[in-house]
Amino acid sequence: MKKLFAVLLVCSAVPAAVLAQTAPALKSGEQVYRETCMACHGPGVNPGLPNVPRMGDKKAWSKLIAEGQHVLTAHAWVGVRAMPPKGGRNDLSLEEFARAAAWMVRGSGGNWQDPDARMLNRIRAEEAKRIEQLKKAPAKG
Ligand code: HEC
Repeated sequence: MKKLFAVLLVCSAVPAAVLAQTAPALKSGEQVYRETCMACHGPGVNPGLPNVPRMGDKKAWSKLIAEGQHVLTAHAWVGVRAMPPKGGRNDLSLEEFARAAAWMVRGSGGNWQDPDARMLNRIRAEEAKRIEQLKKAPAKG
């Protein structure tokens, strides 16, 4: 009986351990911002960079925020002029990137939240549209 219990214990522990390994925790928006976005979007950093909306610059962000979370996040993810696709971090997931964009917006006068499944789908749909647009004409914004 004791032996059977031990076997059961081992069997139930293994899948949990495997799951923990295959599903790494997503980075928070703040973490991604600090690691990646801040190098260009931080206030006063990289001063020659054209058009970059700075963290905390409510005026610069207000018209961007008005485009909508799904549209703006998708455009930035695909890349716009001097904004490299994914901020140059190919290892980021769309969800992590979107969290970082929402974090910057929250620090710049908006109230975007970490995307839920529905928002992620809307961003993906915009991404597909944007890629089609860019095939026809270069980025306008
Ligand atoms: C190498 C510099 C650089 C890095 C790194 C970078 N950005 Fe940008 N980003 C830019 C520039 C430049 C623009 C302005 C593009 C333009 O409108 O010409 C921009 C614009 C944006 C916009 C507005 C897009 C639009 O449609 O106008 C968002 C949102 C954004 N970045 C999010 C991010 C996020 C999130 C990260 C980090 C994961 C990030 N950026 C990292 C340079 C950078």
